[in-house]
Amino acid sequence: MSTRKIIIDTDPGQDDAVAILLALASPEEIDVLGITAVAGNVPLSLTEKNARKICELAGKPDVKVFAGCKGPMNGTLVTAEHVHGDNGLNGPDMPEPTMPLQDQDAIDFIIDTLRSEPAGTVTLCPLGPLTNIATAFEKAPDIVEKVQEIVLMGGAYFEVGNVTPAAEFNIYVDPKAADIVFKSGVGIVVMPLDVTHKALTTKPRVDAFRALGTETGIATAEMLDFFERYDVEKYGSKGAPLHDPCVIAYLINPELFSGRHINVEIETTSPLTMGMTVADWWGITDRPANAMFMGDLDADGFFDLLTERLGRL
Ligand code: BDR
Ligand code: CA
Repeated sequence: MSTRKIIIDTDPGQDDAVAILLALASPEEIDVLGITAVAGNVPLSLTEKNARKICELAGKPDVKVFAGCKGPMNGTLVTAEHVHGDNGLNGPDMPEPTMPLQDQDAIDFIIDTLRSEPAGTVTLCPLGPLTNIATAFEKAPDIVEKVQEIVLMGGAYFEVGNVTPAAEFNIYVDPKAADIVFKSGVGIVVMPLDVTHKALTTKPRVDAFRALGTETGIATAEMLDFFERYDVEKYGSKGAPLHDPCVIAYLINPELFSGRHINVEIETTSPLTMGMTVADWWGITDRPANAMFMGDLDADGFFDLLTERLGRL
């Protein structure tokens, strides 16, 4: 398999953090050109800082981290401190980062990278609201056809919603941006709640991270210990859904996942169902397929991969 060049667009968040660690631990498959932070789980000032904390935890302070949009294209920012804690990465005691934030704006980095790399060689990996990606597409429409693929975490069909009864957080925070991305014509792979709610951080799985005995393994276990309390309390599940690492695991081993190539549209007007991903899973309409919408994963294979890769850091 050849190395895939990616930009990780993210709002860390403990699950974003594990996704970044997985990518940085997998240089044979993944070349991280840069990490672009967006407002989401917590405000931008924290997400960009958290991205740098995670790069330092991984022992990769040379990774370029950029700050992007402070809030959605329309409306005000909705955050998720109730899930992730007040700094977004609650759990371990991590030092303030010393590696620099890049001067360039994340949007311009995305645009410049897609213009300078050969067409069809850069994959975008959004792990948060799609504000940065859609803003870049609106500012520089010429880059859209240069994107190799977008592999994102967001949306839901059978699992419906986690922030409202009808919507998943990343799409709900910026439905306009999601609508632009899903209508862009770029090939999209979606990791919705239908998949991520099967990737649960059960005790044996988190203990396996801790048992690595490394700084990264122990910090990951501590992050997930904190992260899971919300879902265990709310849903009575055996752990938290490890949403965002599904995106990176797909790049390393797509066979862990299965789904359907279908039409997915975003609700942008109804107050009741704002941000819903209307996924034509059953092929009821003749609307053209625009996304590979995943529905299942090999959860044990996914956690085995994570444990093996985190052990490399
Ligand atoms: C998504 O929302 C965030 O809280 C997580 O980091 C994930 O990207 C799940 O709905
Ligand atoms: Ca996220």
